[in-house]
Amino acid sequence: MSPVETANAALAHPQRFRVSGGARLVGEVRVTGAKNSVLKLMAAALLAPGTTSIGEVPEILDVAIMSELLRRLGCDVERDAAASTVTINVPEQLHHRADYDLVRRMRASIAVLGPLLARTGEADVALPGGDAIGSRPLDFHVAGLLKLGATVENEHGFIVAKAKQLTGATIWLDFPSVGATENLLMASVLADGRTEIDNAAREPEIVDLCTMLTLMGAEIEGAGSSTLVVHGVDRLQPVNHVTVSDRIVAGTWAMAATMTQGDVTVHNANAGHLEIALDKLVTAGATVDRTADGFRVIMDRRPTAVDAVTLPFPGFPTDLLPMALALNAVASGTAMVTENVYESRFSFVNELSRLGADIRTDGHHAIVRGRPQLSSAPVTTPDIRAGAGLVIAGLVADGETVVTKIHHIDRGYPAFDEQLRTLGADIVREDDDQPQFD
Ligand code: UD1
Repeated sequence: MSPVETANAALAHPQRFRVSGGARLVGEVRVTGAKNSVLKLMAAALLAPGTTSIGEVPEILDVAIMSELLRRLGCDVERDAAASTVTINVPEQLHHRADYDLVRRMRASIAVLGPLLARTGEADVALPGGDAIGSRPLDFHVAGLLKLGATVENEHGFIVAKAKQLTGATIWLDFPSVGATENLLMASVLADGRTEIDNAAREPEIVDLCTMLTLMGAEIEGAGSSTLVVHGVDRLQPVNHVTVSDRIVAGTWAMAATMTQGDVTVHNANAGHLEIALDKLVTAGATVDRTADGFRVIMDRRPTAVDAVTLPFPGFPTDLLPMALALNAVASGTAMVTENVYESRFSFVNELSRLGADIRTDGHHAIVRGRPQLSSAPVTTPDIRAGAGLVIAGLVADGETVVTKIHHIDRGYPAFDEQLRTLGADIVREDDDQPQFD
């Protein structure tokens, strides 16, 4: 079975987690490459004919979906699970159509738009679906491509972008969108002349993409700043590149250690990519020590409530918002948690409330009144990060919490349950034979 067939089988036979509360997480975990980087690095491989190899690739469903997408575009994609690598053989002639059946399952598929257009002069990419966290339009992607000289139409559920040769331009993003910055970078590296992307995203995953593109022969200035300047080149070469470590998974472990009053060492993590989040944990009462290849979080008492405001990097990451809510739900005191990136990230609060969390939302603010313990209940995972937050909340609930629709969690957290068991949690994965409702 191909990885996507395996994933389809997993979807046809849903699974759930049974989490028993009460464990203190203690031990060591290792984080692999970032989901939010590797998918874009795989898309970037399209820019150069030949064999590109990417290391520290996490064992997650989204990598299988992106692999299948690249195969349909004409690439050979080999996964070596033991070595955590993906090897992508990119032909001179690529197909240019990314179909709905894959794109709807993974919004990050839109990352092929820029590189495909740059390489083939046309990209037809189905409009994506993705996580259920608010409307996630593509207007910045489209406006940027228009500036680069492309025509862009919406035809029968597809974005159809065409340009015989993209030309450099100055692009101002209304918001430092991660996806738009990436797409426009990948389109502009083969454009004719100089492109400037202003108000660009500064996430470590953007820097990772810039590093790989530069290795491929692209000329990029300003990686990690809000102004990216690209001098277009005629051709890029395939490379070997290792994915930046996953700061969101690392941050999830840090929050889980704090909430469970545990002691967790996270390897292959970059504390510098999580400064605000780790500082919040120190305010909550944890000790955070940097180690040679990551950090250690130690907590010996109930956390103190701590406010958090999500913002683009280097702000507190929106992807850790569910964990911030869960942490405050068992903290002493009251906290205000503010979401500035997605309009309906709070939709999962209902699930957290089922576990007894005292959370009131008003627009993009949530007031969380902490209580000593949550109360176990069946809950449903609406998206990747909320799912991880619910599992961790289950660890600080009395009794047994059943978390359904865990295929969302599997999209972002490789072997989440196995790693939790390593740290002493009581969590079981089992088939879910209940009828599934969306
Ligand atoms: C990426 C991450 C996601 C993370 C997010 C913000 C991947 C696969 N996903 O998502 O985990 O939560 O960054 O850090 O890397 N927007 C527009 N128009 C656009 C593009 C975006 O209005 O053309 C809005 C979105 O609706 C959203 C905000 O900008 O409200 C941020 O989106 P963006 O930074 O683009 O997130 P993604 O790249 O989709």
